Amino acid sequence: MRSLLAALVGGMLLASPLAPSPALAEEPEEPTVLPEGHGRDETFYACTACHSTAVIRRSGFTRQQWDDLMDWMVEKQNMNPLEPDERKLIVDYLAEVFPPRRARPPAFSNPFSTN
Ligand code: HEC
Repeated sequence: MRSLLAALVGGMLLASPLAPSPALAEEPEEPTVLPEGHGRDETFYACTACHSTAVIRRSGFTRQQWDDLMDWMVEKQNMNPLEPDERKLIVDYLAEVFPPRRARPPAFSNPFSTN
């Protein structure tokens, strides 16, 4: 009885979530996951310290919005402020390769309407 209990407890410990789960590990990324362009490597290394490029790749902003995002990242997410040159390089790159998604198509208009 005692040994059965020990075996049960032992089994529970082995199955405990303390062991790192490989499923949670993020795939290592290379700068090449980002589109080709001037500033790609700088962007990759400046931005993947805290998160993968997935949040970047699913975003589409104007240059102004990317620029504002840098302030937000510094103020709210504790990012180290970028040097002005580096910031320009990175924001130019982001605006170039991740522009806003195409605006929604115009609302239906009646082709027979005369106005
Ligand atoms: C110091 C850590 C840190 C660094 C460095 C960093 N980020 Fe972030 N970023 C965050 C955190 C934390 C979030 C998630 C915030 C949340 O969703 O609550 C985030 C979210 C984002 C988002 C999603 C915003 C949204 O709401 O859709 C984008 C886009 C982004 N980061 C781009 C960048 C870019 C581009 C860089 C490099 C210039 C960068 N990040 C560098 C911490 C960082």
